[in-house]
Amino acid sequence: MKVLLINGSRKSKGCTYTALSEVAKELNERGIETDIYNAGTMVFKGEVDLAVQEATEIIKGVDGIVIGSPVYYASPTGEILMFLDRLFWSAEEYLRFKPAATIASARRAGTTATLDVLNKYPLFANMPLIASRYWNMVHGSKPEDVLRDTEGIQIMHTLGKNMAWVLKSIEAGKKNGVEQPVAEDKVFTNFIR
Ligand SMILES: Cc1cc2nc3c(=O)[nH]c(=O)nc-3n(C[C@H](O)[C@H](O)[C@H](O)COP(=O)(O)O)c2cc1C
Repeated sequence: MKVLLINGSRKSKGCTYTALSEVAKELNERGIETDIYNAGTMVFKGEVDLAVQEATEIIKGVDGIVIGSPVYYASPTGEILMFLDRLFWSAEEYLRFKPAATIASARRAGTTATLDVLNKYPLFANMPLIASRYWNMVHGSKPEDVLRDTEGIQIMHTLGKNMAWVLKSIEAGKKNGVEQPVAEDKVFTNFIR
């Protein structure tokens, strides 16, 4: 089993990466492989199409996804939004029914607004959303700050454990005849009768 963790920061080894790594640690300890993809740095360089292509290839082979973003002006970064807009439009068939979680990293404020926006993507795509013991956030300006945010770290660890539990439950279900739902063709009405 494998989980892809997507980093929406322009910094490949900053606070968001640190938080995602803590989630990954718990998954790894439970025998689940992980890969961290730095979407933010790719989009910042102008490589949006390449980033979506590369991530789609990885997503085809994973069982779950974690999306992390720093808070910029009380929202996710422009980079992760551009990436997710494209990814969820073009790769939904590879995302659906895979458990997902979102996390936000901030110096101080705007985390819940950021999570609200990030959660819209998995909730659009039939992806079971994984919770932790609080809303999924860490605080800091530098990776060292995040590691000192003991509550934030506990939230990340709990999230990793909960994600592992759901992934293993889905696998056990499959082995016991619990089939994944079949996605119906979507009806789009645009509010016109
Ligand atoms: C352009 C910009 C806007 C930011 N806006 C906020 C904000 O609204 N609230 C906040 O608490 N931190 C804000 N920050 C700080 C970052 O969210 C915070 O330091 C985060 O942990 C950085 O994560 P990273 O190291 O993964 O990039 C901002 C940082 C930048 C560069």
